[in-house]
Amino acid sequence: GGVSLWGGRFASGPAEAMAALSASTHFDWRLARYDIAGSRAHARVLHRAGLLTADELDGMLKALDALEADVVSGAFTPTVADEDVHTALERGLIERAGPSLGGKLRAGRSRNDQVATQFRMWLRDAARRVVAGTLDVVDALVAQAKAHPDAVLPGRTHLQHAQPVLLAHHLLAHGQALLRDVARLRDWDTRAAVSPYGSGALAGSSLGLDPAAVAEELGFDAPVENSIDGTASRDFAAEAAFCLAMLGVDLSRIAEEVIVWTTAEFRYAVLDDAWATGSSIMPQKKNPDVAELARGKSGRLIGNLTGLLATLKAQPLAYNRDLQEDKEPLFDSVEQLELLLPAMAGMLGTLRFDTERMAAWAPEGYTLATDVAEWLVRQGVPFRVAHEAAGACVRLAEERGVGLDELTDEDLTRCSPHLRPEVRTVLTVPGSISSRNAYGGTAPRRVAEQLDRLTARVRDH
Ligand code: ARG
Repeated sequence: GGVSLWGGRFASGPAEAMAALSASTHFDWRLARYDIAGSRAHARVLHRAGLLTADELDGMLKALDALEADVVSGAFTPTVADEDVHTALERGLIERAGPSLGGKLRAGRSRNDQVATQFRMWLRDAARRVVAGTLDVVDALVAQAKAHPDAVLPGRTHLQHAQPVLLAHHLLAHGQALLRDVARLRDWDTRAAVSPYGSGALAGSSLGLDPAAVAEELGFDAPVENSIDGTASRDFAAEAAFCLAMLGVDLSRIAEEVIVWTTAEFRYAVLDDAWATGSSIMPQKKNPDVAELARGKSGRLIGNLTGLLATLKAQPLAYNRDLQEDKEPLFDSVEQLELLLPAMAGMLGTLRFDTERMAAWAPEGYTLATDVAEWLVRQGVPFRVAHEAAGACVRLAEERGVGLDELTDEDLTRCSPHLRPEVRTVLTVPGSISSRNAYGGTAPRRVAEQLDRLTARVRDH
């Protein structure tokens, strides 16, 4: 067998099915370079504590460099006998440094504090990649908003026509949500940036090691305050899983709209060929698979979050082997988003909007009825009365099969004595849109301001 980590107490090696159940190298191998970085830092604090001579430290660091090169080149890989990445790399170190030196590195550390530290390191780097990918999606939305400063569409509530809005306003609403996802990941990082290294198995180290020095070398803000918490807590992983699931859900909401917008009934937008798929049987088909995969993967990301929470629920302190189940859901969520984000940016950036069609639909369904009511309010009519009067206009127009702007002067007076012909000034889509000029509203000037602020925030990241 290979180098066992606990030979002393055991008469036999693990049963085959036990080893198969226990093995994690097929997924935790991606922590290998973080494990080696941790080993370098650990070797230095062992040296400073007087537990490695300068020569030994030098030999150890050289062996770790050689090991890392072999990991990167693929010359060193885990075997079936290696339970996890930490065990495999200890074997690799001993093969390179010899058993008497290589065997010294394990002093004062445990796989429990190693894995908790390295998982944080991996996640912190992964979160930065996800942030970059998310900002590319925001960039695509911003570019579309900039390219369509005047385009309008029927804004919806309950998916029913509600009030006309600027397309840019609508696209930036998705941009706002995505920027909050980015901000959430950055804020998460402030809590994730503490290093459990030096916690040992759970109780801390008796060897005079310096967890703060290790933390600093590994890019953390500080060491954990409590070694039990350091080895047992995984809320950093659950919180990251939430941030990623929320991002997935926000992407799925954009995706759902693209799916609807590209139907024959809507035809608000056409997908670029590079970001659509065809059908093996129906020659006319152009399918929004990117958007559908976004919708589908959001379910998977939610599953990764809820699965991890279920794993953590009711686990006693400190480390339990259940915690080995913490990594795959996060590896998966990040992997899926790294596939999805560039495709979403590409799809959104190349979407071709049919602005004439959207403009034609914008007033349909009496989307200007609120404008009638608010015009009356500006004439001093109580909103309750104004709402009734505008509702009567809608009923009458619907009976006649005409638009609100096509009601005659008599029709208007019949609906309300206060309704004078001047109301027609607000009965146009541009009139309605530019009247909503309060901060955050859909008036072109407000949307342009919002676009500037949002672009500045993207630049700041
Ligand atoms: N591979 C384990 C994990 O991912 C770390 C090893 C800790 N094992 C143990 N028996 N204490 O959590």
